[in-house]
Amino acid sequence: MKLNRRTFLASGAGLALGSCASKSRNHSQNSAGFNTFQHGVASGDPLSDRVILWTRITPERADIQNVEVSWHVYADAQGRRLVKQGKVVTGTARDFTVKLDARGLRPGQDYYYRFSALGHSSGMGRTRTLSDSSPDELNLAVLSCANYIYGHFNVYEAVAKIEDLDAVLFLGDYLYEYANSPANKTPKIRKHLPDHEITVLGDYRQRHAQYKTDTQLQAAHARHPFITVWDDHESANNSWETGAQNHNPELDEGTWIARKRAAIRAYFEWMPIRAFPEEPASRIYRSFAFGDLVDLMMLDTRLEGRKQQAPADTNNETLKEPSRRIISDQQSNWLEDQLVASQQRNTRWRLIGQQVMFGQLIVDNKVLNMDQWDGYPGSRTKVLNMIEKNHIDNVAILTGDIHSSWAMDISRNPFADNPKSLAVEFVSPSVTSPAVTDPVEAKERAEGIMQALPHLHFVDLNLHGYISISVNRARIKSSWNFVDTVLSKNYKEHTAATLICDSGSARLRQA
Ligand SMILES: [Fe+2]
Repeated sequence: MKLNRRTFLASGAGLALGSCASKSRNHSQNSAGFNTFQHGVASGDPLSDRVILWTRITPERADIQNVEVSWHVYADAQGRRLVKQGKVVTGTARDFTVKLDARGLRPGQDYYYRFSALGHSSGMGRTRTLSDSSPDELNLAVLSCANYIYGHFNVYEAVAKIEDLDAVLFLGDYLYEYANSPANKTPKIRKHLPDHEITVLGDYRQRHAQYKTDTQLQAAHARHPFITVWDDHESANNSWETGAQNHNPELDEGTWIARKRAAIRAYFEWMPIRAFPEEPASRIYRSFAFGDLVDLMMLDTRLEGRKQQAPADTNNETLKEPSRRIISDQQSNWLEDQLVASQQRNTRWRLIGQQVMFGQLIVDNKVLNMDQWDGYPGSRTKVLNMIEKNHIDNVAILTGDIHSSWAMDISRNPFADNPKSLAVEFVSPSVTSPAVTDPVEAKERAEGIMQALPHLHFVDLNLHGYISISVNRARIKSSWNFVDTVLSKNYKEHTAATLICDSGSARLRQA
């Protein structure tokens, strides 16, 4: 989504792990201060018996082609009780990134891990496996949209400080593809590397590497497992399956197929995400079971089956053409199978983590943003049909993309009298990416949009932060936590809103 259209409404590890991490940091540097592990450590895609562990080696000499890396998983933060260990080899073929699936772990446990290579050790990371029984509670932080040039990653630091979190859900725009340019007036505090728009594998790798040098981001990764999906900017703005608004072959950017392949390859190299060995290298839709409390389904509404966005003035009937889909039939069938199986297992809640706003952002019968599910109403109807036809209850949709905070009830037609609510949706604010930067203007626009959307319970168009989600058998509690600035690292946090969805209600209420 382009910045001007997204403002549519006009029209370190050391933080949390204390001495343990800072001691390890010394080990990761040689006598000249060179840091072999300068991109930190990360974990992701936890299951009940395994978790992905990630790091990246920076060799000191350019002639090094391959490096053997040891990894160790411990039951304690001090690294005294060794649980698992192994060795892997990385090298130039995968940009010296290291990723492994640590298996044979116990469910619902905290683990600590670190790597060593070239005579140095990484900092210690912490992670957690999923419960396979009946947890009383699940706690998630939900984030999206972290543009490096627009601010410090205070939001990641705030998330790193949370003691009890099962996982961080990152719903896309982990990085941005743009060149440095003075094009708009929103203050920028730092510059992207490389200077130009990223279009080829070397560029995507360099940008991922730059983001991962940020110590506030490193702190969040070292502290909690991440479950991530990409949105558009991990490839190019407003992408779809076969193209992108910000992909211009006539400007020497090559073919979309080659660019998309490069973006996906760098993503899988640099993110702690599990690949499907038997399937296309681009598959990221997948599911996670948190015991019998929550099934989480992560979608790819961006690159997997999406048709091109309709022009802004497309009429509502044309939008309904069955060929206008945001996910493929295959992914849609997979989602239905997941929802039905989850309901049949009697799992209490079903969360759907995905990229773009699912609920209606329609004012005076006019769709405001063709890049979200509003632009693909047939696909939305299909999901609502699967929920209603199969009597799927307790569905909450988690969304990113729009650099602003929203909470809404989901029905087929929220503008009807007494619409039947079938699910709820929580939209996360951005880590740094701007929306409406003037707080007074943001407040005025938010008031207007509240008037126009009867299904809306909360909206903020200005602040950066994250959603904390706490789930138990009785309810989902969703709190919007904001930082007061991203322009300096001296920030304060506050909670602006808390909404509750009681089990069986499919509706939101104020806490
Ligand atoms: Fe974004």
